[in-house]
Amino acid sequence: MESGNLKNNIIVSPSILSADFANLERDIKKVEFAGADWLHVDVMDGHFVPNITIGVPVVKSIKKITNLPLDVHLMIEYPEKYIESFAASGADILTVHYESISEFDTKTLLSKIKSYGVKAGLSIKPKTQPEQIKEYIDFADLILVMTVEPGFGGQKFINDCAEKLSYIKSRQKRGRYLQVDGGINDVTAKICTEKGANSLVAGNYIFTSDNIEKSINLLRC
Ligand code: DX5
Ligand code: ZN
Repeated sequence: MESGNLKNNIIVSPSILSADFANLERDIKKVEFAGADWLHVDVMDGHFVPNITIGVPVVKSIKKITNLPLDVHLMIEYPEKYIESFAASGADILTVHYESISEFDTKTLLSKIKSYGVKAGLSIKPKTQPEQIKEYIDFADLILVMTVEPGFGGQKFINDCAEKLSYIKSRQKRGRYLQVDGGINDVTAKICTEKGANSLVAGNYIFTSDNIEKSINLLRC
């Protein structure tokens, strides 16, 4: 899997939540040609978050039309029920929310993801403190710190959330990913990368840009 081919080794993962779903292939190609590293796919079930988006069939179709690694963010209850199908649909990274894990313990769930040859991510919502996931920080391949309440694109970055990054960074081995998601633009990206983030999700900022290549590069500065 690619690990940041450009400046500063920062991975940019455009969130297709802000794409035009009637022209999804066109919009995915746009970000792929503009130099995106991964493609962020937001899966919402209307229970864990108050919004419904897409599921396995769409991930399967996207896999056929892009070479970008699929960075799948599960904002759903009972994630353990769906890991196998998302892995089979072509996800390269599967990130589950710490707050959504009920049936399995967190380590077992992350191991289950890894057992399918998929990178295992663990995400925390704004009110969850990094100390709560201390024992999993270096077990997960990726930690996702939400910088807005999950559910919708286009929200304002919550500064306090970025304060969690240094704590997590200092506990991760080399080669692990520290991702932020929500309200990321050229200004907030810098706040996060200075504190150790090396993977940036951005929806609105990228898909509303009239120069996507330039916007992606600005995120890496
Ligand atoms: C929100 C999603 C995000 C969203 C980010 O719950 O997880 O990935 O698409 O959108 P922006 O970058 O517009 O805040
Ligand atoms: Zn997301």
